[in-house]
Amino acid sequence: MHPPMRIIRNPEEMRALAEDVRRDGRRIGLVTTMGYLHEGHVSLLRLARARCDFLIMTLFVNPTQFGPNEDFERYPRDETNDLEKARQAGTDVAFCPEVSAIYPPGYQTYVEVRDLQKPLCGAGRPGHFAGVASVVSKLFHLTLPHFAVYGEKDYQQLAIIRRMVRDLDFGIDIIGGPIVREPDGLALSSRNVYLSPEERAQATALSRGLEAARQLYATGVREADRLEQAASAVIASAPLGRPEYIELRDAETLERVARVERPAVLAVAVRFGKTRLIDNSVLGR
Ligand code: PAJ
Repeated sequence: MHPPMRIIRNPEEMRALAEDVRRDGRRIGLVTTMGYLHEGHVSLLRLARARCDFLIMTLFVNPTQFGPNEDFERYPRDETNDLEKARQAGTDVAFCPEVSAIYPPGYQTYVEVRDLQKPLCGAGRPGHFAGVASVVSKLFHLTLPHFAVYGEKDYQQLAIIRRMVRDLDFGIDIIGGPIVREPDGLALSSRNVYLSPEERAQATALSRGLEAARQLYATGVREADRLEQAASAVIASAPLGRPEYIELRDAETLERVARVERPAVLAVAVRFGKTRLIDNSVLGR
C-alpha cells in the first residue's frame, strides 16, 4: 500500500523533502502541470509512476507564460478534483505553490531557448516559452527529479525542455508521453472546456487534417507542401476555425523541411473564437 499523498505549498519544504528522498537512494519522477487534470495528465502520471520510487506532481498556473491578452485569470481551476486524481494515480507529493512563493518581489531571471522558441506557438505567443522554460527550471530545482515526463501534445514545449536540459546540464532525463485523445480524435486539453458545442464539433478538424496527411505520407508522398496541403484542406472545412499555422518541421530542430527525410513533425494551431487549439503528428519515426 502507498502512504497517503502529501500536499506541499512551501518551496523550501518541497526541496528539503526531495533532498531526503534522494539521500535514501530513491528515484524521483516528476510531472509538471497547470492543473484541471484530464486523462492526458493522468497518463503522464501513470507513465512516471511505473518508472520511479517517488512521484511528484506540480500544480501551478504559471503567470509568466501567459501573454497580457491571454487567459491567465480565467484559466480553469479545480484543485480539489486535481488532488483526488493525482492521489488515485499514485502521486506521493503534490507541490502546489502560491504565485508569490515562486515569483517573489524583484524576480527578474528568465531562461530562453533561443531558436526553438521562435517558430510555431512562439511566433504567436511572444514570451510564452521563456515563461515555460523558466518555471520548469525552478520546478526542477525545487523537486530534484531524476526524470520528468512531458506530453507530445505540446510538442514544441517538449523540444524546448529537452534542449534546455541538455544545454544547461540539468542531468534530468526527459521522457515524452503520447497524445491522449477523445474518441473522435480531439486531443485532450484543459482549454477544450471553453469550446461551444458547435466549435467542439468542428474541432475534430485538427486531428482529421493530421490523419489525412498521415494517409498521404503512407502512400509515399514526402513533399512538405503536399502534406501540409492535405491537412489544410480538411482544417479549412471547419468554418468556425481560423488556422494559425500548419507546418511541417524537423522533429528535433523544428526547422522547416521541404521533404521528410528524417523524422518530421506536422504541427497545427487553429483558433476557435478565443480558444487556441494545437495538435501534431510525427511522420517518419
Ligand atoms: P499543462 O497544459 O497542464 O500540461 C501538463 C502536461 O500535460 C504537459 O506535459 C502536457 O504536454 C501534457 N498534456 C496535456 N494534454 C495532453 C494530452 N492530450 N495528451 C498527453 N499529454 C498531455 O504544459 C503545461 O501545463 C505547462 O506549460 C507547464 C509545463 C506545467 C509549465 O507551466
